[in-house]
Amino acid sequence: MANHVNPPNTSLISLVRQDLKVRPRKWLVTGCAGFIGSNLLEALLRLNQTVVGLDNFATGHQHNLDEVHEAVGSERFSRFQLVRADIRDINACREAVHGVEHVLHQAALGSVPRSVEDPITVNAVNVGGFLNMLVAARDAGVASFVYAASSSTYGDHPGLPKIESRIGRPLSPYAVTKYVDELYADVFARCYGFRTIGLRYFNVFGKRQDPDGAYAAVIPKWIASMIRGDTVTINGDGTTSRDFCYIDNAVQANLLAATVSDDKKNEVYNVAVGGSTTLNQLFDHLKDILAAHRVATKRGPIHIDFRKGDVMHSQADIGKAITALGYTPTHDLRKGLEAAMPWYLQKAQRNPAA
Ligand SMILES: NC(=O)c1ccc[n+]([C@@H]2O[C@H](COP(=O)([O-])OP(=O)(O)OC[C@H]3O[C@@H](n4cnc5c(N)ncnc54)[C@H](O)[C@@H]3O)[C@@H](O)[C@H]2O)c1
Repeated sequence: MANHVNPPNTSLISLVRQDLKVRPRKWLVTGCAGFIGSNLLEALLRLNQTVVGLDNFATGHQHNLDEVHEAVGSERFSRFQLVRADIRDINACREAVHGVEHVLHQAALGSVPRSVEDPITVNAVNVGGFLNMLVAARDAGVASFVYAASSSTYGDHPGLPKIESRIGRPLSPYAVTKYVDELYADVFARCYGFRTIGLRYFNVFGKRQDPDGAYAAVIPKWIASMIRGDTVTINGDGTTSRDFCYIDNAVQANLLAATVSDDKKNEVYNVAVGGSTTLNQLFDHLKDILAAHRVATKRGPIHIDFRKGDVMHSQADIGKAITALGYTPTHDLRKGLEAAMPWYLQKAQRNPAA
């Protein structure tokens, strides 16, 4: 287990949760039908918050919202209002953010390979849409604006673990867009006094992360393949390493960032665990956990070429988030995979052909 992983309920986050329950607020979650957005939505509704969601369902799904509904029950779900629109439309952003206290901006087109294939659309959404949301939130006078930044911003910087202040050159169009977002956020503090927080997520995983499609992330894609009995394909020799971050840690970081004092804003923070796991080790963890669920993995992985735009090693220093935000990740990779696996098994049972 990584050194930084702490038991829950010993930290600032429990106070924040209590405070939100006592004084519920109105939130905007963009990208609410996606993986991270729908988990944020669920966490907020469980805390009796009022939530507006903005999504155009480019990569998000109605079934994610249906699952949130099922998880929180109809009474809490009635505090959720969906604006089905595109963040490239400034008027839609203005409508969605009206009367909102806290913004959690997640909507974007993820995936490095998608951005290599279609940099124009990815830029329009991730930069143009981001700028729209910044302007709309600034004009609406929100109390906080937290946005999804990315570990891809570290680019070709060789240093490990990654420290927020030391970045290299971006390795993909996606990384450029996420870095430009940080630059805009910073300039908005200087030009307009609008102070935001960027959370540099490192390979977040957990329930509702889409296992399907050409741009699926490694964990859901492999789990789905292994449950089906298909061969897993590893890009490269499997020594590529990542700091995989369970969704509950990312949700916690968002709640802390949204409610932190102003002097901790206009900053970016790594959101991860501080661990390092190779793809070969990830395969072994999954095989092991699936075996505990009586799913045997008969085939080993096959190795193909490294993928364009990928960084070789990614591991976060999470000291800044711990110190400034009171971030205390509750799940390391293994615990997170064990927590997420039943969801993937249920999904496979419901939809065996997928
Ligand atoms: N998952 C990760 O490991 C990870 C890592 C680093 C950064 N991020 C960032 O976190 C955020 C959420 O990622 P995710 O993994 O939940 O992805 P996701 O694809 O599951 O969710 C993104 C959501 O944004 C919506 N969206 C896309 N374009 C939109 C548009 N033009 N207008 C309105 N909505 C739009 C999608 O429909 C989807 O519901 C993204 O900004 C992503 O870049 C994710």
